[in-house]
Formats: sequence, structure tokens, C-alpha cells
Amino acid sequence: MSKITYDYMEDYIRNLIPDRKGILKDIEDFARENGVPIVQKETGVFLEFMVSMKKPLRILELGTAVGFSSILMYEASGTNPDIVTIERDEKMIELAKLNLNKFNLSEKINIEEGDCLEILEKLQEPFDLIFMDAGKGHYNHFLPHCLRLLKEDGIIIADNVLFRGMVACDDLVKRRKITIVKRMRTYLDLVTHDENLITTVIPMGDGIAVTKRR
Ligand SMILES: C[S@@+](CC[C@H](N)C(=O)[O-])C[C@H]1O[C@@H](n2cnc3c(N)ncnc32)[C@H](O)[C@@H]1O
Repeated sequence: MSKITYDYMEDYIRNLIPDRKGILKDIEDFARENGVPIVQKETGVFLEFMVSMKKPLRILELGTAVGFSSILMYEASGTNPDIVTIERDEKMIELAKLNLNKFNLSEKINIEEGDCLEILEKLQEPFDLIFMDAGKGHYNHFLPHCLRLLKEDGIIIADNVLFRGMVACDDLVKRRKITIVKRMRTYLDLVTHDENLITTVIPMGDGIAVTKRR
């Protein structure tokens, strides 16, 4: 399991979440059956909760995969937001485009094709909500751009910040993951120790950090 919380707790909470319906369920099932790393169930609900509270007009997502979380956020926001989502994997981009078409969302959800860092450097218009879900080893590099692109009252939601428990516990760290773990710790240090920011770290899913300006 995720090594973020107790297995029985994770199972219990996950089982409380009703199954999705329709096309979004088909996309979720496809992703889970084919090893596409979409948000965990409880993280999906958390995202829906946050967008329904925040009511963003512009969302930036790092890591589109097959478009699941983009569509989820769009549908839950109730604001018909413009979403910019970044993805570098051609196969994922192709599948995401097909999925966006199924929801008639190709105009509202714009896939920026390429590496997050390169695309971030080019973006100028600010966002109400930024969802970081790509390039776990680079969140600390993405952060200055995300802060530049964040509206005054915007929020950054970063997924996978506890990375299978490894970020919190040296005994769990796999040697080949050590760089990612160190950089994720740097990210968490940055967002928790910057006196202009307030961050809450939630041991849910693979670990979520929510950051805003004070
Ligand atoms: C965890 S998945 C995104 C899942 C998606 N947010 C969801 O929940 O439906 C991460 C995606 O980011 C992409 N990715 C990883 N590093 C990237 C980078 N540096 N630039 C652009 N895309 C990247 C991967 O190809 C993968 O599809």
C-alpha cells in the first residue's frame, strides 16, 4: 500500500467513495487497468472539493496523463474554468485529446505539449489554482515559476509529496529514488519555511501539500 497511512484507514476511506459513472469512470478504469498513474481515488475527491470551494477561473496542471484529473477539476468547479495542462509523453497526449473530445472540452482544456519547466518559463497569464502532478524530482525547480504564475489569493496543490512514505522515513528510501526524495524534501522545506507562504501537508493518497500566500 501507500505507506502514508494505515492500510485499514486507507481502505476504509477509499471504500466510502462512490464509484464514478459514465465516461469519467471509463477513463479511470482504463487508466487503472493500464498502469497510467492518475490521482488516487481519495486525492481525486480532495481535488474536486478544493475546486468546488475555490471556484477557479484559470487552472494550471503539471502532468495531464490521459486527462482524468483535468476533466475532474473542470466538472467539479462549476465555473467553466480555462485549464492549461502540461504533458510531454506523446502517447498520453494522444489519449488525453481523445478523452477531452468525449466531453467537448478541447477548447476549455488546453494541452501544452512539452517539458513542464520549458513550458512554465513561457507562461505569463496568472492562475487561481495550480495542480503539480508531474516530475516529482523537480517540484523545487517548478516552484518559483508556479509562485510567479499564482494569483495573489491562488493555491498550489502538490501531489505525491510524501512519495510512498520515503520522504518522511529514511528506512523506506529505495536507493534509485534518493534524488527524488531529497528534492521533494527540499520542496517541502521551501514551502513550509518561506514566511510569505502557508502550507499544510496532508497524509492522504501519496501525500498532498497545499500552499497559499499568507
Ligand atoms: C501522475 S501523471 C499525471 C496524472 C494526472 N494528473 C491525473 O491524475 O489524471 C504524471 C504525468 O506527467 C508526465 N510528466 C512527467 N514529467 C514531466 C515533465 N517534466 N514535463 C511534462 N510532463 C511530465 C508523465 O508523462 C505523466 O503522464
